Amino acid sequence: MDSNEARDVFQAQSHVYKHIFNFVSSMSLKCAVQLGIPDIINSHGRAITLPELVTALQLHPAKTGHVHRLMRLMVHSGFFATKQVCMNQDEREEVAYDLTPSSRLLLKDKVPSMLPIVTAMLDPAFTTPWQFLGKWFRGNELTPFETAHGMGLWEYGDKNPEFNSLFNETMASDSGMMNLVIKDCKPIFEGLSSLIDVGGGTGTVARILCEAFPNLKCTVLELPQVVANLPDSANLKFIAGDMFNAIPPADAILLKLTLHDLSDEECLKVLKKCREAIPDSGQGKVIIIEIVINEEKDEHESTEAKLFFDMLMMVVVTGRERSEKEWEKLFLEAGFSKYKITPIFGLRSLIEVYP
Ligand SMILES: C[S@@+](CC[C@H](N)C(=O)[O-])C[C@H]1O[C@@H](n2cnc3c(N)ncnc32)[C@H](O)[C@@H]1O
Repeated sequence: MDSNEARDVFQAQSHVYKHIFNFVSSMSLKCAVQLGIPDIINSHGRAITLPELVTALQLHPAKTGHVHRLMRLMVHSGFFATKQVCMNQDEREEVAYDLTPSSRLLLKDKVPSMLPIVTAMLDPAFTTPWQFLGKWFRGNELTPFETAHGMGLWEYGDKNPEFNSLFNETMASDSGMMNLVIKDCKPIFEGLSSLIDVGGGTGTVARILCEAFPNLKCTVLELPQVVANLPDSANLKFIAGDMFNAIPPADAILLKLTLHDLSDEECLKVLKKCREAIPDSGQGKVIIIEIVINEEKDEHESTEAKLFFDMLMMVVVTGRERSEKEWEKLFLEAGFSKYKITPIFGLRSLIEVYP
């Protein structure tokens, strides 16, 4: 092997190591969040030096010397930024850590927040099934989640109220981001008088819609364990039910991150029910908020995140993320004739589907 070949092998070694240790990135993020570092920096009111951070963290004295190592990685991965701050009258400068747009999404009592998502998705209930992925490929369980826990995700939620709340909170925090773009959605929802949010969680999107469009009557159709104790209000109603059995009639049906949980066969069943529930003409439409995979057009990082979601759907449910072609095939097979994709939710697009 000449030295060029050896260099290529070492480059490959480094690539393999990076992927072996990709979990270090998620687990360090979980640790930073558990320690409350984003909130500590935020309440400090300005960039925080290492000694100030160590004091605020209230750690075991033997661990204080390790904080800079965690922070070094978190800075490297873009969760914190460093800057020089002047500490004393002698103008001695010290490095201090500041928040970045990503860590601003990890603050406790701020909206929008991804804090519940970090907590839930890195909880052992969600990380353990990944240990069973290889076994699942050879076995007959529906999902690695089922291989790991002996039951599917929704049944697990029904039997574990704490997990159920954590999951619902996760979805609510994801849905809260709809507020950021609701003003751009006016043409999509204006003129509708009724909407059913199928698999609408605890009603975060429905509430945002009711507020933005006071003439719109919203109904959330959800599993009983999700909506059991949620009170109705003037234009928001909760129905405990099963989307595979019945979807009540409405001008529009909304499905946000509900179809990506489903296999193509399951998706078709639900889409056909949606088709029956909306009027044939005029305003009738199905509104879907989901990932559309587009490897040619998307940035490398977006595609990677979308493919991670696709794997997640394989591991925890029977679903998948879909390309435009895959979505189109389902729409046509379910009896719809046209659709329009608007990419307004970061990784997710809004798809209007018409009879
Ligand atoms: C990924 S979550 C999406 C929640 C919500 N749409 C959002 O984006 O925040 C999927 C939702 O579908 C609900 N769901 C699963 N199976 C269902 C069924 N058969 N009928 C009604 N809802 C169901 C789950 O309880 C869960 O809240």
